[in-house]
Amino acid sequence: LTIQWYPGHMAKAKRQMIEKIKLIDVVIELVDARIPFSSRNPLIDDIAANKPRLLILNKTDMADGQLTAEWINYFKDKGYSAHAVNAQTGKGSENISEWVHELTAAKREKVESKGFRARADRALIIGIPNVGKSTLINRLAKRKIAKIGDRPGVTKGQQWIKVGKTMELLDTPGILWPKFEDPEVGLKLAATGAIKDELIDFQDVAVYLLKVLMVRYPHALKERYGLAEISYEGNEPAIEEIVALFDAIGKKRGCVIGGGNIDYDRTAELVIREFRTQKLGKLTLESPEETL
Ligand code: G4P
Repeated sequence: LTIQWYPGHMAKAKRQMIEKIKLIDVVIELVDARIPFSSRNPLIDDIAANKPRLLILNKTDMADGQLTAEWINYFKDKGYSAHAVNAQTGKGSENISEWVHELTAAKREKVESKGFRARADRALIIGIPNVGKSTLINRLAKRKIAKIGDRPGVTKGQQWIKVGKTMELLDTPGILWPKFEDPEVGLKLAATGAIKDELIDFQDVAVYLLKVLMVRYPHALKERYGLAEISYEGNEPAIEEIVALFDAIGKKRGCVIGGGNIDYDRTAELVIREFRTQKLGKLTLESPEETL
């Protein structure tokens, strides 16, 4: 389910998040490991400024392992506790309460030094739509928490879920909007499926995706589509080069219409679908140095 973000929604989402953050000790920010920069909310650093933050790269089963490691280092250098997780299988997620507990150590010591017993660590999962917030909450709760309306503004009684011995997790995630200003961010969100397909132009997204893959993963394209001519070197393929690749893939995969012309809609959909289902391998669309 994808949210249409209107100014009213955004203001409400921000207000709700600020209220929720007051209740918790640690913010668990979830991003998509295939697009760790593009899947972050632009205001998160302001909104969550005064709380320790755990940064989780989710969907690592679909991402390039080497780049996931680079992203983790990048976030660690920025001072976050950053970790890779696969919420679908639970890989990595079993350690979340420990990571959270490390982040509350200083606060706990303060409380205990005054002779009180520190309470459980309270945490909140936040992120843009579709990064896997509900999947992770269900995973940590070890049961299916009814998915509330995936719309900012829908409030229901929220509850704490006990996770391990030391953590309590708010059962409703904080949902924030993605970055809007940068068209490349939008195209990356669309390519990964974070934006509803009805709202995207497949040809636009496929052209962009092929451009990124030509630079980043020419061998993956070559292998998948058996094309010799795509060992592209350089950083800025010309549109003609991208169209030539599009044509070659369409032809190779039989996406043709009358007169031997390429069916661009079908070719575009095929490329996007194959990227999303890892037919081209585990690929990440951005690296830290590009986004600094
Ligand atoms: P949200 O609450 O942040 O909006 O995201 P949600 O948990 O609904 O997850 C969005 C989609 O991402 C779901 O797929 C979910 O299964 C998938 N997902 C979440 N975490 C992971 C992960 O670590 N790896 C992989 N491969 N997928 C993950 P869906 O197709 O929308 O739904 P469904 O097919 O699971 O029903």
